[in-house]
Amino acid sequence: VTTRACVLALEDQPASDDCAVIERGLVEHAVAQGIEPRNHRSLTILARDGDGRVVGGLVGTTVWGWLQVTQLWVADAIRGEGHGAALMRYAEAEAVNRGCHHALLDTFDFQARGFYERLGYVVFGEVRDFPRGHTRFFMRKVLDGGSPA
Ligand SMILES: CC(C)(COP(=O)(O)OP(=O)(O)OC[C@H]1O[C@@H](n2cnc3c(N)ncnc32)[C@H](O)[C@@H]1OP(=O)(O)O)[C@@H](O)C(=O)NCCC(=O)NCCS
Repeated sequence: VTTRACVLALEDQPASDDCAVIERGLVEHAVAQGIEPRNHRSLTILARDGDGRVVGGLVGTTVWGWLQVTQLWVADAIRGEGHGAALMRYAEAEAVNRGCHHALLDTFDFQARGFYERLGYVVFGEVRDFPRGHTRFFMRKVLDGGSPA
């Protein structure tokens, strides 16, 4: 696709340097609006067995006072033993240490809405047919020191 000013190309494996240009552009745009720079800091917690194999983990970031959990998984063989909740509590405690006041995540109807509700997360939005026939839920929680939102 060609427009007057530039050529658009669909890229399956964009270079990280090229993606960084977009991130930088967004940071600079926000700063120009008087918004604090959105300095994403990764927050990853891995659970390993006695042989060092990864058997679970949480992947997320902290930014603008929010913990964003993007992935959480515990191996089938050790589910129901409290590891998922422990990973979440660990991430929340680290986020509070970093000055965060809220946590944000999404989950699907075939995943773990009830698990997060037990941990104090509340659904604030949902998208139906994502994937078709299923629902994606957006959830948030006030962390220590945060005011209710
Ligand atoms: C969801 C998941 C991370 C939970 O890990 P876990 O180690 O089994 O969870 P825990 O043992 O810490 O469970 C804590 C509580 O949540 C409950 N729970 C666990 N999984 C649940 C689920 N999917 N839905 C509702 N409740 C759940 C447990 O029964 C337990 O309740 P209790 O406190 O009353 O005993 C794990 O089951 C998993 O990896 N599932 C597949 C992938 C997935 O759905 N990931 C989440 C993506 S958003």
